[in-house]
Amino acid sequence: MSRVFIVGAAGKVGKRLVKRLGTVGHEVIALHRKTEQAQELEALGATTVHGNLTELEASSLAALMAGSDVVVFTAGAGGAGMELTNAIDGKGLETSVAAARLAGVRRFLLVSAFPEAMRGEQTSEGFENYMKVKKSADVHLASSELDWVIVRPGTLLDEPGSGNVHAGLAIPYGEIARDDVAGFLAVLVDKPEITRQIIELTQGRTPIEVAASRLGPAQKP
Ligand SMILES: NC(=O)c1ccc[n+]([C@@H]2O[C@H](COP(=O)([O-])OP(=O)(O)OC[C@H]3O[C@@H](n4cnc5c(N)ncnc54)[C@H](OP(=O)(O)O)[C@@H]3O)[C@@H](O)[C@H]2O)c1
Repeated sequence: MSRVFIVGAAGKVGKRLVKRLGTVGHEVIALHRKTEQAQELEALGATTVHGNLTELEASSLAALMAGSDVVVFTAGAGGAGMELTNAIDGKGLETSVAAARLAGVRRFLLVSAFPEAMRGEQTSEGFENYMKVKKSADVHLASSELDWVIVRPGTLLDEPGSGNVHAGLAIPYGEIARDDVAGFLAVLVDKPEITRQIIELTQGRTPIEVAASRLGPAQKP
């Protein structure tokens, strides 16, 4: 079983992931920024650590991550403005990558965004900035020597997951339940052979475990 450190653990995807990982016996360390979030995260099975990504230095975040096997980054400013998007989705990811390297945690899973999100629709300057920051975060992580996986989900839904997804290196745009994003991330924790890949993810017809298995190292014909 792995020790998984979640950045953004109190978020909608984060909480679902905490619960799922705990259910299958992983140890979860949940970084959250509001003291009142600790009780709920602990009830879901996590050990909580309190900290704000905009204030933490890489060295102090590394101290919190020490001993973990996997870092999952699913934090985000959630439309709170460009400055916070830059600080959390952008700089916060860079600090987390630096912290993982300092702490010697090699595996790093990042929840990013689907490149076709809102294409062809009228978008705000803030949304365009969000997409730019998400791509820069991908570039930053992908250029590290870590054992990374970038997951780019389509538009996230709160409705219950189906347990079935469409996962691939390049797939048509779509929606996906947060439950199924959490389910997919949990499977990635158990599949270290899936590494250094950018995976697009939407709802689909393939059970999560099967969809993830198809993304493993290429089989010889
Ligand atoms: N919405 C979509 O359709 C969509 C599509 C594709 C990808 N995504 C990405 O998917 C990820 C997860 O989405 P979600 O729906 O779970 O988002 P969410 O519910 O907004 O969760 C984000 C988490 O990040 C935390 N966070 C924000 N600022 C922080 C800080 N300074 N220090 C520490 N933690 C901080 C938030 O803390 P609080 O709980 O304290 O606010 C929250 O728990 C995000 O990165 C998002 O950009 C979203």
